[in-house]
Amino acid sequence: MISMKNIRKVYNTGKVSFEALRDINLEVEDNEYIAIVGPSGSGKSTLMNLIGCLDTPSDGEYYLSGRKVDSLTANELAGVRNREVGFVFQAFNLLPYASAYENVELPLLFSGMRSKKRKKRVVDLLNRVGLGEKLQNKPTEMSGGEMQRVAIARALGNDPKLILADEPTGNLDTKSGAEIIKIFDELWETGHTVIVITHDMNIANHCQRTIKLKDGMIYNGNGFPVKKQTASAAGLN
Ligand SMILES: Nc1ncnc2c1ncn2[C@@H]1O[C@H](COP(=O)(O)OP(=O)(O)OP(=O)(O)O)[C@@H](O)[C@H]1O
Ligand SMILES: [Mg+2]
Repeated sequence: MISMKNIRKVYNTGKVSFEALRDINLEVEDNEYIAIVGPSGSGKSTLMNLIGCLDTPSDGEYYLSGRKVDSLTANELAGVRNREVGFVFQAFNLLPYASAYENVELPLLFSGMRSKKRKKRVVDLLNRVGLGEKLQNKPTEMSGGEMQRVAIARALGNDPKLILADEPTGNLDTKSGAEIIKIFDELWETGHTVIVITHDMNIANHCQRTIKLKDGMIYNGNGFPVKKQTASAAGLN
């Protein structure tokens, strides 16, 4: 599903440039369940933004579902993103004045789904995350865990194969966090590829494989940088 070769990402801020990722070689199969861990500033969100086609690498090759996506235009990237990727963020990123229903409906409106199909899809998605009774609640009228469940329902709108979550439980108590992870488990069990950035080692250990980042590079368990990370190298096959 994901193949990255010698990926490098440099951010240019004024006259200063900063190499946030280097020597990233990453292979992810369909339907893997992966945790990305590492200290603050190690490049986790940068890597996720590249994986999810929110940004392009400075160097290297990236294939997503067999398509070369490392040098697409902003419009082309948006198209790939809408079809292939569902994002979940730590801060939920919901529209504050819109109901759960409206938040989930918005991307489906943008993608041009017809009204009747859309209504059914929104209700199905919110039922799937256990919020069938809270369709009309606004974010201010929901708990953090409920808001994150709305965000997951929204991410699933266009039925993406790849689910990317950046610290999805970072703002939640343990119990609500566990409920969110349970939803990711179900998505994985139904064939999605799930990649979660987390500081919580319980969550990381719960995933099939962990990718450790430090100073913009992937490290193995012994503290050595690895130039190649595959499912078989991680002992999965
Ligand atoms: N848009 C940007 N412009 C310039 N530098 C950036 C930009 N985004 C990130 N960086 C820098 O790149 C490095 C990696 O940032 P990134 O957000 O990927 O870290 P992270 O591992 O997600 O950290 P955290 O756990 O705190 O979220 C940091 O040093 C950061 O300052
Ligand atoms: Mg981050």
